[in-house]
Amino acid sequence: MIKPHGSVELMPKIVSTEEEKIALLDAARSMKKMKVNSAAAANLVMLGAGYFTPLHGFMDKKDVISVANKMQLDNGLFWPTPVVNLTNQELDFEEGESVALIDPNVEGQQIIAIQKISKIEKLSASEIDNIVDKVYGTKDQSHPGVKTFYEQGDLLISGSVNVINYSYFEKDFGETFRTAMQIRSSIEAKGWKNVVAFQTRNPMHRAHEELCRMAGERVNADGILIHMLLGKLKPGDIPADVRDTAIRTMVDHYFPKDYVMITGYGFDMLYAGPREALLHAVFRQNCGCSYLIVGRDHAGVGDFYGAFDAQIIFDNIPEDSLEIKIFKADHTAYSKKLNKVVMMRDVEDHTKDDFVILSGTKVREMLSKGESLPKEFARPEVAEVLMKHYMEE
Ligand code: ADX
Repeated sequence: MIKPHGSVELMPKIVSTEEEKIALLDAARSMKKMKVNSAAAANLVMLGAGYFTPLHGFMDKKDVISVANKMQLDNGLFWPTPVVNLTNQELDFEEGESVALIDPNVEGQQIIAIQKISKIEKLSASEIDNIVDKVYGTKDQSHPGVKTFYEQGDLLISGSVNVINYSYFEKDFGETFRTAMQIRSSIEAKGWKNVVAFQTRNPMHRAHEELCRMAGERVNADGILIHMLLGKLKPGDIPADVRDTAIRTMVDHYFPKDYVMITGYGFDMLYAGPREALLHAVFRQNCGCSYLIVGRDHAGVGDFYGAFDAQIIFDNIPEDSLEIKIFKADHTAYSKKLNKVVMMRDVEDHTKDDFVILSGTKVREMLSKGESLPKEFARPEVAEVLMKHYMEE
């Protein structure tokens, strides 16, 4: 099986035994506490679950700046986005201390991790501007990821972590939330050698479904890993529980048994387009997948990125950066001429009017009016799940 990124083994930062957890929580009673922001909590979940192998914890200034400018840690390892604990709170602890990090997304001041504070460094306004510009390709605060980054603050608290739990993800998405360790074991147990991963933050419409099918066939995959984002999204995106139901319904009806694994991971969407696509590839490699599907406007938002920027970036990184490969998908849609979903590059004789294409806004508009979506766009069973959600909203 493909090796994890930069390591022979996965390096999950979750406590490995119940005894260790009890001992850490006991020690935490006398530690200072710090409530982290949601982005940092999501980073902790990813570090705990092995997805961010081989990172040990939150990056320091040297690493963050190097990642932003060169997509490498200071030690040279490829890494595309900062993994940070940033704050603007006044701190009551110092470098060298261990601090209990409080989860902002669950009730009751629950401790999510212990961080050994290696450095506390201030980022200047121009350093933050540069990081944001390099990672998101813009400093425009109407970009949801950019806005979130600026709101986090300028004090960078770095150091290794021991993660205690996976926040709300296990409780809320028990059926779907999986760690990289679990996914690797499942792939091994199934005997799959060649696995295609599909990243998504949407319910899966016909184009998504067909994209998985085409990728699977074209790379001769043993199976498909549908791996959905379960963390925070921007307003207007479809909530994870509804997406989960829609995806399960689609797979049950339209894919052969035992060809698809439906899973999810606990991370907040960055909307960083190309840089996030690279991060997506890192953690699918850590899951043991050989390919990641990258299609149109992968991890994008609004008009901030070119439709295929997230594919092009893979051609511009050093060849040995990653072992996982990407499956480059062209814009995919239903052809009225051929009565099937196609990739546009495969049907050169078509014009725009030969395809059924609905914008996200149009889809939301139709659903909230109780109108069903065209069967060429969405499977009726999926449309029903979505309609129910919009009618209940
Ligand atoms: S993402 O933010 O998670 O990338 P989404 O769930 O919409 O968004 O997309 C999942 C994957 O499918 C991405 O690789 C995206 O590029 C691809 N994709 C979605 N719709 C299409 C389409 N119509 N044609 C080609 N690729 C698509």
